[in-house]
Amino acid sequence: MKKETSFILRGDIVYSKAPLEIVVNEDSYLVCMNGEVEGVYTSIPKEFYKLRLYNYEGCLIIPGMADLHLHAPQYSFRGLNMDLELIQWLEQVAFPEESKYSELIYANEAYDYFVEDLKKSATTRACVFATLHPQSTILLMEKLEKTGLHCMVGKVNMDRNSPDYLVEGTKDSITRTKKWITSVKDKYQNVIPIITPRFLPSCTDELMIELGNICREYQLPLQSHLSENKGEIKWVKELFPSADSYSAAYEQLGTFGGDIHTVMAHCLYIDKYEMDLMKKNGVYMAHCPSSNTNILSGIAPLRTYLDYKIQIGLGSDIGAGDNLSLFNVMAEAIKVSKLYTCLVKAELKPITSREAFYLATKGGGSFFGKVGSFEVGYELDAIIIKDYSQGQPRDFQVEERLERLIYSAKENDIVAKYCKGTQIFDCYKSNSLL
Ligand code: GUN
Ligand code: FE
Repeated sequence: MKKETSFILRGDIVYSKAPLEIVVNEDSYLVCMNGEVEGVYTSIPKEFYKLRLYNYEGCLIIPGMADLHLHAPQYSFRGLNMDLELIQWLEQVAFPEESKYSELIYANEAYDYFVEDLKKSATTRACVFATLHPQSTILLMEKLEKTGLHCMVGKVNMDRNSPDYLVEGTKDSITRTKKWITSVKDKYQNVIPIITPRFLPSCTDELMIELGNICREYQLPLQSHLSENKGEIKWVKELFPSADSYSAAYEQLGTFGGDIHTVMAHCLYIDKYEMDLMKKNGVYMAHCPSSNTNILSGIAPLRTYLDYKIQIGLGSDIGAGDNLSLFNVMAEAIKVSKLYTCLVKAELKPITSREAFYLATKGGGSFFGKVGSFEVGYELDAIIIKDYSQGQPRDFQVEERLERLIYSAKENDIVAKYCKGTQIFDCYKSNSLL
C-alpha cells in the first residue's frame, strides 16, 4: 500500500455517468489530487507537471468496483453443496462453517486467504458479513484495514432459529454488539462497522428494534437479507403476521432505511408496495445473481427495479455466490436477466453490458459516497487492466474491450489498483516522473 494520493494515471479511461451513459477517453490522463478525481485530460495540463505519472499506456483504466454483499467466513467453502436451497444450505453448510470462527487460529488462516484474494480482485469497496463472534470480526477488520480497501464489516446478530452452536441470547447479542462498536469505531482509516442482523428469521423483534436504535445512536449503516427465497418469505409471514410484507416487517421494526443507511441483499420477490418503500426510504438493493442461481432462489426482475429507479449495486454473495470477481457477477447479471426475458416476461428487456458496468461501479459505489466514477470530485478508486483484446487479428474499440472483459477477465489481468487515491498494488511497474 502506497500513501501518495496525488498523481496521474495514463491509459484508456472508461467510466459510467448513468446506467446507459458511458464515457471513453482513449490514451488519456486521469489526474488524482488528494485522493479525488481532478479531471481527465488528453494531455497533461502544465500545473500538474510535478506530479508522478503512472504510465499504463495501452491498458484499460476503470473505476474500482463495489461488492454490496458478501460473507467473508463463507469464502472457504464457496462452490460446495450448491444443490441445496437457502434454509437447508444455511443449516447444513453455512452455519457449521461459521461456527469455526469462534477459534481465532482458524479465523486467522481463513481470513488471510479471503483478504488476499479480495485485495487482488476488481473490488475496492465491500459490505462484508463476518460471523457473530466479536473477536474474529475484529481480526477480519484489521486484516482488511491493512489492504487499503474501504470496507464496511459487520459482526452478525442472531438470537433465534439458529443452532445451539451459533446463537446468542438477546441481551448478550446487544451487549456484545455495543462492546464491539466501542472497540472498532473510529479506530481504522478504511474500515467501519456496519450493523448486521442476519435476516428477520434469525433475530427476535426485541433484538431487531435495538439494532435499529444502535444504528441511530452511533450513526452506523445496516445490512441484511430481504426476500431471497419463497420458503423464507412464507416463514417471515408466520413470524411477523402483522406486516403485509417482508419489507414492511423490517420497516415496523425500524430497520429499513430512512434515517439508517441500509442495504438489503437479494430482493427477488418484492411487490410494488415494497419497491415504493425501498425507494421512499432510500434502501439499497444488492443484486446477487450467482447466488440466486446456485441455491435455487430464482431470478430478480432487475429491469423492473432499474426502471423503477431503485438504488442498486451488485453483490458476489460469497459463499452462496461462487465467485469473488465482480466481472463474473456482471456477466451473471446479464445472463439471468436474459433468462427472465425468455422465461418470465418477454416485454422486459435484458440488461446490457453498459448497465451491468454501471451497477458494478457507480451504482454500488454510491452506497459509499462519491465513489465508482471518474467524474470530477469522485474518490479515486481505479483498477488497471492489461487486456487480451490487443494484438488480436482484429481491432477492438475501447468499450468493446471492456465488454469482452466482463465475460473473461482473470485476476491476473488486473495489474494495478487504487482505492481513494491509495495505491493498493502495482505489478505493472511502469511509472516515471515527468
Ligand atoms: N440469509 C440469511 N443468511 C444468509 C446467508 O448466509 N447467505 C444467503 N445467501 N442468504 C442468507
Ligand atoms: Fe448473503
